[in-house]
Amino acid sequence: MEHELEKSGKYDRLERVRGITELADIHYIRQQDRNGLGEAVMYAEDHIGGEPFALLLGDNFIQSETPPIAQLIETAEEYGESVVALEEIPWENVSSYGIADVEDTAGESYPVRDFVEKPAREDAPSNLAIVGRYVFTPEIFDHLRAIEPAPDGEIELTDAMRRLDRVRGRAVDGDRFHIGNVPDWLEANIQMALRHDDGELFETVRQTLREELED
Ligand code: G1P
Repeated sequence: MEHELEKSGKYDRLERVRGITELADIHYIRQQDRNGLGEAVMYAEDHIGGEPFALLLGDNFIQSETPPIAQLIETAEEYGESVVALEEIPWENVSSYGIADVEDTAGESYPVRDFVEKPAREDAPSNLAIVGRYVFTPEIFDHLRAIEPAPDGEIELTDAMRRLDRVRGRAVDGDRFHIGNVPDWLEANIQMALRHDDGELFETVRQTLREELED
């Protein structure tokens, strides 16, 4: 990307990209087969070096003043435990998410007793959903290695999380878009363009919608 930007003389964009890539060593690994989120996380073990780490699922996009992962890191550092972002969702959607079983939700963060992956509505212990932001202590890798694949053959991250001695939940501030399907992805793009009225896409999207809807 840097090469292409340089070749086409887009120096301001090149500067922006370089600023980002200099902040971190970026490694990219493609999961060969659909063996589940748990297996995908296992690919990261060699890069993590026995330290706590953050996991962000790209199909949950959260707009917030303070990045949700920073909110989780704060709690993880305070308690020295794994922490997961939880959000109260409509009960009819519980079967699309990992769901937390908690005693109560008093306080900024609270202990989670158990998790269940994509339960039927009548079996769900709550409507508190895992929304794709986690901070894990490195023990999670031992549990990922120890669990059996789920009936569909996938290694479920949630099954490994159930085996952690301690894990806390925290509601994070922010506006979340679940962009794993086309209508929601499209809505998120339109909303984001319209929310940034100083952004380069604001006028294009506003004009297009106005013209199309007027017809
Ligand atoms: C994954 C997790 C699930 C979590 C969800 C958030 O499921 O397994 O626990 O609630 O992400 O989007 P997936 O959406 O990959 O099926």
